[in-house]
Amino acid sequence: MEKKLKKLVEEVSAKLEKVKSVNELNLLKSEYLGKKSVFNSFMKDLQDVPKEDKPKLGQLINQSKQVIAGLLDKTKSLIEQRIVEEKLKSETIDVTLPGVNLKKGSKHLISQTIEEIEDIFIGLGYTVKEGPEVESDKYNFEMLNLPKDHPAREMQDSLYISEETLLRTHTSPVQVRSLLENTEQVALKIICPGKVYRKDDDDQTHSHQFTQIEALVVDSSTNLSDLKGTLLFIARKLFGEEREIRLRPSYFPFTEPSVEVDVSCYKCNGKGCSMCKGTGWIEILGAGMVNNNVLEAAGYDSNIFQGFALGMGVERIAILKYGIDDIRAFYTNDLRFNKQF
Ligand code: PHE
Repeated sequence: MEKKLKKLVEEVSAKLEKVKSVNELNLLKSEYLGKKSVFNSFMKDLQDVPKEDKPKLGQLINQSKQVIAGLLDKTKSLIEQRIVEEKLKSETIDVTLPGVNLKKGSKHLISQTIEEIEDIFIGLGYTVKEGPEVESDKYNFEMLNLPKDHPAREMQDSLYISEETLLRTHTSPVQVRSLLENTEQVALKIICPGKVYRKDDDDQTHSHQFTQIEALVVDSSTNLSDLKGTLLFIARKLFGEEREIRLRPSYFPFTEPSVEVDVSCYKCNGKGCSMCKGTGWIEILGAGMVNNNVLEAAGYDSNIFQGFALGMGVERIAILKYGIDDIRAFYTNDLRFNKQF
């Protein structure tokens, strides 16, 4: 019986070497250790063995059983380990492989310029206000001292949607809206960036849609020298600290007095060059003291309130800063243009 048991252990370990899966292993397990296994016949044989040999043989049977169980367990953990290793191998990521180049977008030059101008004004304590692009005639014109049939409406060729509604021709209606919203009539200091529309034929210098930023300050004391100081500060922030500004008398229905603002040429430093057409100055924006009629129309007592407004074209600022020679470049989405900024 001893020999038989030894052979059995050898037989099992030989079979285990060939086992490849946990399934096969389980089959072997039930074959050798299950209820109908050879060990049952050994137990039967034990009954015919002399009494004094029984304990020793019994022990031997149990030992063999344990050895086989141990072998089965060992093989099981080996198989499991191999499965994990194979999985790890098949799932490895080769970090040295060249990556897929994801294209990253960037901000359009108009957005960048808006943000640059906004930052300057926010630093001066202004808040940003926005308004609708489809606007009423009342806010776009009438309340800005531009009654129906006023000849100055000619300055801004308009795109009307109906008799009373149009695409706003400037961001000034946001002035009106902000004045009206400010029912407590506390001091107001805002900027209004946004798209505006004019009935223009598109060419190198004209676009039927462009971008403006308007600023408005209304309180009881803001005067022309505050406007001048603000303009100088902004011009220097945008075009360099060495710049000077020049105010020329102008006309806007919503401001009185009105000025056109020039900055000293940043290319020739005022000496005169092709950039400034030999004048040493470059026009950058329009401004003025808020017309009393605008204040009164919005319900503000013009004996108490005063202030200034200024409005600039974002494209114009970017064109000057970056030497762009065609306004259409902003809108045609040519990546060769967009990627430069
Ligand atoms: N709204 C004017 C325009 O579009 C610009 C402007 C704003 C001028 C505020 C003066 C004051 O032409």
